[in-house]
Amino acid sequence: MFVCLCHNVTDGQIRQAMREHGISSLREVRVHLGVGAQCGRCAQCARQVIATELERQCATECGRCCVPIAAVA
Ligand code: FES
Repeated sequence: MFVCLCHNVTDGQIRQAMREHGISSLREVRVHLGVGAQCGRCAQCARQVIATELERQCATECGRCCVPIAAVA
């Protein structure tokens, strides 16, 4: 699904950038993909995508519950 219409960025592109470049915050997603850099309406949705991907990575990589929500802000 499209998350950022201003920059035509999908949730899949955000997740891919997180995996490939170690991105873990909205600021980094903004710098890398432009998400939220124009009208900003996509910021909340992008935060949710980032949080979900961080939870998935945590569960996959460490197997313990250490949801890094603070890293999303
Ligand atoms: S929808 Fe993402 S900056 Fe406008």
